[in-house]
Amino acid sequence: MERLAILGGEPVRRKPFSPWPLYGEGDRQRLLQVLESRNWGGYPFPNVLAGEFAGRFALAHGASYGCAVSNGTVALMVALEAAGIGFGDEVVVPAYTWDGTAVAVLDAGAVPVFADVNPETYCLDVESARKAITPRTKALLPVHLAMRFADMDAVLELARQHGLAIIEDCAHVHGGAYKGRGAGSMGDLGCFSFQSSKLMTAGEGGIVITSRLDCFELVQSVVNCGRASVTDRFGKRIVGGNYRITEFQAALLLGQLERLEELGDRRSRNAKLLSEALSGIEGIRPLPCQPALTREAIYNYVFQYRPADGQVSRDTFVAALDAEGIPCDGRFYEPVYRSDLFRVTADRFPQLGWERESPVDYRAFSCPVAERAAYEESVWLPQFLLLGDKTDVEDIAHGVAKVISHREELAAADPTLAGLKSMSRAERPRLEKERNY
Ligand SMILES: Cc1ncc(COP(=O)(O)O)c(C=O)c1O
Repeated sequence: MERLAILGGEPVRRKPFSPWPLYGEGDRQRLLQVLESRNWGGYPFPNVLAGEFAGRFALAHGASYGCAVSNGTVALMVALEAAGIGFGDEVVVPAYTWDGTAVAVLDAGAVPVFADVNPETYCLDVESARKAITPRTKALLPVHLAMRFADMDAVLELARQHGLAIIEDCAHVHGGAYKGRGAGSMGDLGCFSFQSSKLMTAGEGGIVITSRLDCFELVQSVVNCGRASVTDRFGKRIVGGNYRITEFQAALLLGQLERLEELGDRRSRNAKLLSEALSGIEGIRPLPCQPALTREAIYNYVFQYRPADGQVSRDTFVAALDAEGIPCDGRFYEPVYRSDLFRVTADRFPQLGWERESPVDYRAFSCPVAERAAYEESVWLPQFLLLGDKTDVEDIAHGVAKVISHREELAAADPTLAGLKSMSRAERPRLEKERNY
């Protein structure tokens, strides 16, 4: 009889999925050209390939301007500063996201205030965001998470009602569009990451896009040590650092942008097949379709684990699926206010206590949808699983069905089987060195 791989049986799959990142001869040539040019850095600013890439990327997302930077966390911090967010201002952030979204707010001198997420998209819940607004609130920071967009019509309306800036965290949605509008082009500024696991990568990197020239000029100044922007139409000055991207990164990103559409189509085709296959499996729920998405971007394919009996935890389910040869994760994110990576105190971030009787205490936050997603329900499959063909999708669905059909055995097994999958992202890297995301 078939046995679960985690209990010593034969796994559904031994073959690796598509490698990631992908590169070609064009990338090799461009990197060599940079090498031989001896023009490697980000200065003069913007340098040749960095400027070319930023312009193309912004255009592809429907924004007028782009400025490539050293990483996605920096992109968010720079965008917040360019939007005029400063010391002690509050920024509403969804609780279910990568810690860096909130750390960028702290690095800009502001205070992240967490709102819950929508149970169907795992993106910012607009009613929860409305409740989080106080007289100190200056901006909303929606995150388009995994494979869905925040409800941007409602976010834009909420921002208009309260006079708030919008910074879109688009770290997961390169090439995606909501009602025909490109990711990052709907708010005041949009920010992307090019870290290794992302849909476009240069190992590290980021970009800020905007259609507001005043913001773009400030972005350039913050990124380039406070120097005047290229156009300097608004003549504003601001203290900056060195957050420039290198020409090597820009060279890689030009190639990544060229293949973005084709790879996006491939992921979408496979995701559709996978949703069809998973929707027939008891206790498994693919995220419902989001009709507002006119162009999907799938950073992780996320589905919900909702068994009727609740005997096997999500972490154990994920560990068993991983053992079947299907890379996956449950605790990909935790609600940031509960994350071990978010140990913030007022002595390190004095804005948390500024003009308050007592400093903001993140232990007081409670976002039930985010907590359920993080600890009980969500299953994350990395995007490269969808870069292959139909047989890869069949293997994923087979793996899920196999684990579900053996859940009684799993329920009777040792609960510590979940191992790494029940550990936080703060602790895992000590034990999980080979993964690059
Ligand atoms: C949602 C989100 N925001 C921000 C970031 C920060 O990007 P980076 O790792 O490039 O600093 C990431 C990626 O790691 C992310 O997933």
